[in-house]
Amino acid sequence: MSAASDVRPSGATGEIERYTFRERVMHWFTGITYLYCLATGLAFYSPHLYWLASVLGGGATSRFWHPILGVVFLMGTLWMNNFWHRDMEMTETDRRWLDRVEHYMANRDDLLPSQERFNAGQKLFYWLMLYGALLLLLTGFFLWVPEYIPRQAAWVRPLAVLLHEIAALATIGGFIIHIYMGVFFVPGSMTAITTGWVSRAWARTHHRLWYLRVTGSPPPQE
Ligand code: HEM
Repeated sequence: MSAASDVRPSGATGEIERYTFRERVMHWFTGITYLYCLATGLAFYSPHLYWLASVLGGGATSRFWHPILGVVFLMGTLWMNNFWHRDMEMTETDRRWLDRVEHYMANRDDLLPSQERFNAGQKLFYWLMLYGALLLLLTGFFLWVPEYIPRQAAWVRPLAVLLHEIAALATIGGFIIHIYMGVFFVPGSMTAITTGWVSRAWARTHHRLWYLRVTGSPPPQE
């Protein structure tokens, strides 16, 4: 199910609803579970970061909850997929947008093709987190219960460790960019994901096609 049809302009305030309450709960549920897995995972990765496990209740507690919260994180991403997968499909416009991404970095949205509800960068992040979560769980399973790996297949464990770390690093790279974009680069985004609402100017600037669709205006000739 796509939530695109749930968004609506508010006649009273002139603002536009970008994220419904359910979408925001879903986002923060997923975000918090990811942060827990990230902190405990980093603690297992390096002795210099072990203090993170101490802060979170100790090594044994972190080892117990890390895989469980990993499953919950994957459930969060699948929940997101249920709501957003149609909004996240890559289009020809997205490919043109990616070709000119340097204008986005220079904050010149006016030089880019108009975007629907999510831009190509947001879509790439979304797919990275979804497939990253799947790979993390698949590889993490062998680290969770290594005693079930038969002796003849002992090579599975180091391979699982390597792939688990690669998947983790890929999601961390995407996550750092996500935080930077959401918190610092695009003012108004944090308000969107916390209150659900954005101004018309914000919607028109960053997601013109979406703005025109939810306000019922005719699409532009590009
Ligand atoms: C915990 C710290 C996090 C913060 C501060 C944060 C911040 C934000 C913000 C500000 C937005 C709104 C962007 C917009 O509408 O233009 C957003 C949307 C979104 N967030 Fe997060 N987020 C966090 C964690 C995560 C995690 C762990 C995921 C992993 C699945 C995630 C996935 C998404 C997705 C798919 C969207 C919609 C598209 C996009 O903006 O990328 N977020 N987030």
